[in-house]
Amino acid sequence: MHRIGVLTSGGDAPGMNAAVRAVTRMAIHSGSEVVGYEHGYQGVLEGKGKILKLGSVGGIIDDGGTFLGTARCGEFREVAGKKKAIKQFEKDGVEGLIVIGGDGSLRGAQGLFDLGFPVVGVPATIDNDICGTDYSIGFDTAVNTVLDVISKIRDTASAHERVFVIETMGRTSGWIALYAGLAGGADFILVPENVPETIEDLTDPIIRGHERGKQHSVIVVAEGAASGMDVAERVQEKVGREVKLSVLGHMQRGGAPTAFDRILASRLGAHAVELLLANRGGMSVGLVGNKVSACWFTEAYSHGKELDLEILELAGILAL
Ligand code: F6P
Repeated sequence: MHRIGVLTSGGDAPGMNAAVRAVTRMAIHSGSEVVGYEHGYQGVLEGKGKILKLGSVGGIIDDGGTFLGTARCGEFREVAGKKKAIKQFEKDGVEGLIVIGGDGSLRGAQGLFDLGFPVVGVPATIDNDICGTDYSIGFDTAVNTVLDVISKIRDTASAHERVFVIETMGRTSGWIALYAGLAGGADFILVPENVPETIEDLTDPIIRGHERGKQHSVIVVAEGAASGMDVAERVQEKVGREVKLSVLGHMQRGGAPTAFDRILASRLGAHAVELLLANRGGMSVGLVGNKVSACWFTEAYSHGKELDLEILELAGILAL
């Protein structure tokens, strides 16, 4: 392909910039030009593409966010929107596209592919809910951000002998809560994939911990499992201690990507170019067992990536 397009779409994730850098430099290395579209599919519909040179992606590997900008685009969800996008690609001389984003973005990519346009996807979302890859870009950074908060909260929780509820993002998936909770030694991790039947299933281990002398407790709640506010109120009724709540929100999406995310983004971005130039569209790249791989879009987003419940069980045992 003489010229390919690249865009970042959906919720931003740390490492998106590193992925755009890898796409751009790998494509140029392979003899193709690159057009970067601003604000995802929205920017395509508005004709906001610009040529990316080697220097356009210099100095961005360590930046959070995405310098191209991102958006969730209603118009593109319709078939008419996708047809309009293909017309814009033709106008721009763009023969194939690399989409960096989460499940909604990959769904959009499938729609373009169904209309005959070559597209390859790169999974980037802090939620880690894309199949066909062990990790999505941004997840590791988000986990480390939450971990940092857990450690800081533990200091004050311990000083006041309080119980803290920390609500994490993740939409309908519990991966961020699970990994950050395990790494942070949380006393309980509440995830949508395994909601306890009764409040006592959550509070009994906390009470047992206090009885054996624990000074404080940290409960990590994934937003898809319950509202942190509800959990905090219900726990306070049962444990007879002051319960405080921290809802972490969008801070989890910001910050410089970790080394892991930069390496993941570099490998996946480059592999996406290889696939697109080999005319293997319709696929989402991934890292499986530390090897780059790819699966069909439909497999990548059709069902949320299953949470590893063995890790959840382990976290419960280690929190005793
Ligand atoms: O998908 C990434 C994510 O950060 C989810 O964890 C969260 O539920 C959602 O996006 C928040 O979306 P918005 O930025 O539109 O509020």
